Amino acid sequence: MSTTIKEREEGHERLYPNWLNPRYYYLTQLRKQLESVTNGFIRSGSAKTLADFGCGNSPYESLILPHVKKYYKIDLEENPRAEIHIKPTGAIAMEDNTVDAVLSTQVLEHVPDPVLYLSESKRILKSDGILILSTHGYWMYHPDPTDYWRWTSSGLKKVVEQQGFEVIYFKGIIGRAAMGLQLFQDGFLFKIPAFLKPVLALFMQPLIALMDKTTSQQSKNSDACTFVLVAKIKK
Ligand SMILES: C[S@@+](CC[C@H](N)C(=O)[O-])C[C@H]1O[C@@H](n2cnc3c(N)ncnc32)[C@H](O)[C@@H]1O
Repeated sequence: MSTTIKEREEGHERLYPNWLNPRYYYLTQLRKQLESVTNGFIRSGSAKTLADFGCGNSPYESLILPHVKKYYKIDLEENPRAEIHIKPTGAIAMEDNTVDAVLSTQVLEHVPDPVLYLSESKRILKSDGILILSTHGYWMYHPDPTDYWRWTSSGLKKVVEQQGFEVIYFKGIIGRAAMGLQLFQDGFLFKIPAFLKPVLALFMQPLIALMDKTTSQQSKNSDACTFVLVAKIKK
């Protein structure tokens, strides 16, 4: 399916937002993490096929596409960009052991049954396949179409491992202090006129970036805005 100019612009802003975007710091950090994981686990590995499970408008496709032969887009029936739709039962219309990698960015907090979602991810993966998953620790309520869960680092590892995965990489992005400022910003963001939003972002986003530098990576791995993990199937 070809993309429109508007979709390409939205995709570019998601990957490379400007400082006037109230999500500037978060989107930049998430992209960097996903780039790093793509380089470490897809580019240098043997993944030829990838399923973007809960693809939305597949904002990270351009980072990954050069390194895989086939990029499947999977989502709910209502997403016209998806080429494979999820059945009402939550199952994916795809054979077992089909793909080398499953990509799941900001989906797990939206699924009504995370256990089913993870077991479907495992079912479609080949036995040496990997799951690349990012989801929120702290974030505002943001239904798409619903918003059910927030994860702690331990809870996320537990639910992933209970479905037969072994977590081989785990990183938190944006620590507590910076995330406090992000939520403070968002507390005002939806109450002010549209023309003031970039002004608020221009003031807050550098502050959030600066504050985040005071938090160690070790602390972020326990407590963060978003966790990014890579898991392989437990033998
Ligand atoms: C916040 S969006 C993230 C989209 C995209 N992955 C991204 O990073 O921008 C959440 C996505 O989860 C999808 N979703 C919601 N419930 C789902 C389910 N039960 N199974 C799979 N995907 C689901 C939504 O349709 C939506 O595309």
